[in-house]
Amino acid sequence: MAKKITVNTIQKYKDSNEKFSVLTAYDYSTAKYIDEAGIDIVLIGDSLAMVALGYETTHSIGVDEMAIFTRAVAKGVSHAMVVTDMPFLSYHTCIEDAVKNCGQMIKLGANAVKIEGFSEYILSVIKRLTESGIPVIGHLGFTPQFLNTLGGYKIQGKTKEATDEILRQAKELEKSGVFAIVLEMVPQESAKYITENLKVPTISCGAGKYCDAQVLVSDDVFGKFSEFKPKFARKYGDMKSLILDSARKFDYDVKNGNFPSDEECF
Ligand code: KIV
Repeated sequence: MAKKITVNTIQKYKDSNEKFSVLTAYDYSTAKYIDEAGIDIVLIGDSLAMVALGYETTHSIGVDEMAIFTRAVAKGVSHAMVVTDMPFLSYHTCIEDAVKNCGQMIKLGANAVKIEGFSEYILSVIKRLTESGIPVIGHLGFTPQFLNTLGGYKIQGKTKEATDEILRQAKELEKSGVFAIVLEMVPQESAKYITENLKVPTISCGAGKYCDAQVLVSDDVFGKFSEFKPKFARKYGDMKSLILDSARKFDYDVKNGNFPSDEECF
């Protein structure tokens, strides 16, 4: 049985220039197979609001829903690090709420949490969480929970000034205690510069090949979610066809008396 991935493993990957992989999961059996496949971090992303619950944006999901999915995923994983993406407004009202909500995910089996954005307040939240024994992943560049203030799905860090600003923020997150930082929708060369100037690893979500790790939404990778596919996602499977095909065959067999067979009865 492979050893459990910890914050130390993740830092060792960075120090030895070794890439690592991150995939989202939202349920027990998917998490189990992703873990078996050797993925390093299983993220219960708040993307589940859209791909698993059919909400329009990630804003609608709450702590109680994230808790259900965190418990299910954590039960399926034995090797990978389990990280819960903290939902919109679950860590913004005050530090006490942040510790309580993030702490709840750890109690349910997560090994760390991910929080989006940058401000003096966010830095103090990260500091308090790590002081409380809750490892944190930061998230810069395009941050979906700030969709309305950013004015849409926009690439971040397109100029030298904007890249320097993301690096400045990343260094502050690093000082406050994050053990990794997701860079979302940042041009590849900007992400390269940021990655080369940080001690903690960067995780690319549409930020190119020079980051230390790559993350994708598993429903995109498995070809399950079909309403849209981000430019940076790669489809490795075709679960939509598999589900359609299996459901159609079952429907046909039921309606034509082919299911169940004698062997499938008591
Ligand atoms: O919600 C999510 O799944 C994410 C990752 C894709 C970074 O935040």
